[in-house]
Amino acid sequence: MSLREIKPGIYHVGVQHWDRRLFDALIPTPEGTSYNSYLLKGNERTVLVDSVDPELQEELIRELKGHGVEKLDHIVSHHAEQDHSGGIVRVLEEYPEATVVTNAKNKVFLMEHLLIPEEKFQVVAEGDTLDLGNWTMEFIMAPWVHWPETMFSYLKEERVLFTCDFLGSHLATSDLFVEDEREVYLGAKRYYAEIMMPFRHLLPKYIERIRGMEVDIVAPSHGPLHKDPAFMLDSYEEWATGEVKNEVLLVYVSMHGSTKRMIEHLEEALIERDIRVKVFNLEHTDVGELAMALVDAATLVLGTPTVLTGPHPLAAYAAILANALRPKLKFATIIGSYGWGGKAVEGIQALVPNLQVELIDPILVKGHPKEEDLAALDAMADAIVEKHTGAGLI
Ligand code: FEO
Repeated sequence: MSLREIKPGIYHVGVQHWDRRLFDALIPTPEGTSYNSYLLKGNERTVLVDSVDPELQEELIRELKGHGVEKLDHIVSHHAEQDHSGGIVRVLEEYPEATVVTNAKNKVFLMEHLLIPEEKFQVVAEGDTLDLGNWTMEFIMAPWVHWPETMFSYLKEERVLFTCDFLGSHLATSDLFVEDEREVYLGAKRYYAEIMMPFRHLLPKYIERIRGMEVDIVAPSHGPLHKDPAFMLDSYEEWATGEVKNEVLLVYVSMHGSTKRMIEHLEEALIERDIRVKVFNLEHTDVGELAMALVDAATLVLGTPTVLTGPHPLAAYAAILANALRPKLKFATIIGSYGWGGKAVEGIQALVPNLQVELIDPILVKGHPKEEDLAALDAMADAIVEKHTGAGLI
């Protein structure tokens, strides 16, 4: 990826990771991702804004060297996660005169994770500024978007806001700026669901703060840049605080067909009652798709057979994921089957302490579902209709 000018003297020097398919050994990235590093050539000082993932750090060094950057005064580090900070050590090898400008918490993280010596740091706090000569860079603390040390920075004179993970998207693209909002929307929603949703209660204050600023360009650390940030701010607002939809997620795993039969019956019963459903067979599910579905749904139905005495491990995985992502769900329940007993329902319930949901009575059947079990699932569909109606979703 070549160095590209965003505004005179301000360059994108990040890299596209086209073939990255898994992030943090956890999160699917079917469209790859990017690590947006920026070069600011002030008339007195030159600054690198974040680095890139260590796997691609030589690309960053080639870009800087290939474009005649002989000296860096500062490296601004917004966030310690290594997709942005991991290349700093290598950059410091090439530019040993540079100081690492960051907040006190991130300084400790970078010392612990990257073993950067303490004397390399220049610590800043909320409202502090960095003088680049013709430009002033102001620092804005933004804890929990994504980690507790995360911060933004604002190049005042050029009205460019660097938001690190916030408003970014896991999307490798040659587009410097958002060209196709529809394409970016899905990548950004996936990013929100996987990375930002656990902190959704904190997001409105950052959305409002950015709305109140004079900003020409929002430059996140993943995905294309925003010349019209209202589109992404509106999307974030909807995802974080909008009402859930009249929608049920049927998320299941089945070993011998009993749980699958129950899910299929409930799916039909809900559709007959004009409730939108999305079905995820956990044997094949991209958990990013599931995370995106959790952004909007009102109800989660988790289907699990009983393995030995507890839930199937794939169902437990889905429960742990939902618990970690803290979606806006209002209702949840568990259905499934067992052979000789067990505690599948209790096992799932113990995994979701963070879910602020009303539990609809679970249904666990012995062996294959019989007529009375299917009737109980019809009654569950009626109960879901009643709950959604009571919540004003129908
Ligand atoms: Fe893109 Fe939280 O790092």
